Amino acid sequence: MIVAGIDVGSLTTKVVILKDDKILSTSILSTGEEGAVIAQKAMDEALKKASLSFDQLENTVATGYGKKSVTFTDNTKSEMFCHAKGAHWLFPFARKVIDIGAESSKVIRLNERGDVEDFTGNDKCAAGTGIFLDTMAKAMEVPIEEVGELSLKHEKKASISNMCAVFAESEVVSHIHRGTPRNDILAGILESIADRIFGMSNRMGTQNDVVMTGGVAKNIGMVRALEEKLGVKIWVPENPQIVGALGAALIARNFVTV
Ligand SMILES: Nc1ncnc2c1ncn2[C@@H]1O[C@H](COP(=O)(O)OP(=O)(O)OP(=O)(O)O)[C@@H](O)[C@H]1O
Ligand SMILES: [Mg+2]
Repeated sequence: MIVAGIDVGSLTTKVVILKDDKILSTSILSTGEEGAVIAQKAMDEALKKASLSFDQLENTVATGYGKKSVTFTDNTKSEMFCHAKGAHWLFPFARKVIDIGAESSKVIRLNERGDVEDFTGNDKCAAGTGIFLDTMAKAMEVPIEEVGELSLKHEKKASISNMCAVFAESEVVSHIHRGTPRNDILAGILESIADRIFGMSNRMGTQNDVVMTGGVAKNIGMVRALEEKLGVKIWVPENPQIVGALGAALIARNFVTV
């Protein structure tokens, strides 16, 4: 059976095509202004990579912030559910998922079947999200892909005490002006995000089997900062950004089989 999941995030749109228990192809595009157009483009790209046509898909499910803009399916599912399903499929022992995307971060607690037991998120606040990191990286003229590795080379983490993104940004700017070493500032920024996620994570209990999803999981410095704060190893999928779309594909498959 061939199915697809699409996750229209605030920054990126992801598609996963699944055949039975195998991922056939994936695509990731910038969401931009036109959610519907990009959703179609991302789907076409994933279909092309898998040498398939849309008619060969038995079912599709959309998730993410822009799920309603998808015109080729009416099946939608919440992000919480999809990230939990995707993470559980990749790591069946997972009991907690930390998803940090561009504009939202979430901590989800799941049971042994991968069902959501509880979750918490910070949808209305920029601190603790990818966009905050992207803005800070830009202010420091460091490509976002390099932030993680550089932060690991810090000597003394710069203190960023304010939890609000607006004030944290001005703290970063004053560190830059004071000549605080770049890697120390980067480590301080990641530490401040880790503090925030730590608070959310604690509200969801103290599970050890933590999986991180979303684009920010590609930032090794963020993963290490969270591991240090939580005191546990964090499992990161090979492609953490597509986990929500993968979960949507798994749900699409269940719709067909039940
Ligand atoms: N190669 C990379 N290295 C480090 N960070 C990255 C990389 N690629 C993406 N990111 C981070 O991932 C973020 C985007 O994550 P993601 O694609 O999961 O967001 P989204 O799903 O569109 O957002 P949301 O779930 O909040 O709607 C970016 O803001 C950036 O900080
Ligand atoms: Mg997302």
